[in-house]
Amino acid sequence: MARLDVTETFNSIMFPGHMHTKDSLNYATNFKFQDTDTVIVTYPKSGTTWMQEIITLVLGKGDPTIAQTQPNWARAPWLEQYYCADVLKASTGPRIITTHLPYQLLEPALQHSKAKVIYIARNLKDVSVSYYHFHKMANFLPDPGTFSDFLNDFLKGAVHYGSWFDHVKGWTGHAKDIQNFLYITYEEMCQDLHGSVQKVSRFLQCPLTEDELILAQKHCSFNSMKENTMVNYTLIPQEIMDHSKGKFMRTGKVGDWKNTFTEEQSRLVDDMYSSQMTDSSLLFKWECP
Ligand code: A3P
Repeated sequence: MARLDVTETFNSIMFPGHMHTKDSLNYATNFKFQDTDTVIVTYPKSGTTWMQEIITLVLGKGDPTIAQTQPNWARAPWLEQYYCADVLKASTGPRIITTHLPYQLLEPALQHSKAKVIYIARNLKDVSVSYYHFHKMANFLPDPGTFSDFLNDFLKGAVHYGSWFDHVKGWTGHAKDIQNFLYITYEEMCQDLHGSVQKVSRFLQCPLTEDELILAQKHCSFNSMKENTMVNYTLIPQEIMDHSKGKFMRTGKVGDWKNTFTEEQSRLVDDMYSSQMTDSSLLFKWECP
């Protein structure tokens, strides 16, 4: 299997070599979506795992059995990762597919598709801090150096999966071109998890009773997920993810960037945000800047 080298790119974007091959990326970009598919789309560290859990619980009407017995990558595989085809082949029932791919790479495959696409965005300052800590524990990602070094690369888009700005603008800017599209933010999910689970259940046309909603909400809370080995990545061998260097379920908070950013870094990001996001058609519910 021809894994991508760490410095190799696919359509000018870097992908972690241990999970991606040229074949797996070609498979993803030529994927045949089914109308019954649900597709979770995120830039890394924006609430991907959280949405995988919410959808699992919504489809299970709040019953946590699947969430507590099947790893997230087996029930909602990443489309671009090499094992996806095998997982989907073995799956029965409606498919949940996860992807970090930018819009331009999936646009052809999604054309005319009625698949339900859920895009989750998160404040880029919190994303950058979360991604930095993830680089420190994930041995398949390059050493991020200092936060300042990492932030420079992140703002240039010189990180795996490319630029946060391009990703968010690409997907939200084409919301109208996707037949079934739900946009939600990490901040909204933190602020109103009950309402967010309900929003997802309505979008999936899978109505839940109030009791089922409360059950689903309980099992996708940060504290529940932190203890759930099916989603907290502690099943991944130490040589791939070193849990002595950090936790995947780290803080689960909005605004944690304030503990890391200097004032100058914050101003730099604010300025870039203002200049890059001017034509973005979606309103962000979080303060940024
Ligand atoms: P932090 O590192 O800021 O804590 P992804 O799944 O896209 O990689 O995102 C991981 C981020 O989502 C981490 O952020 C993680 O803690 C947070 N997260 C995961 N589940 C969560 C939940 N139930 N509530 C709040 N945050 C959650």
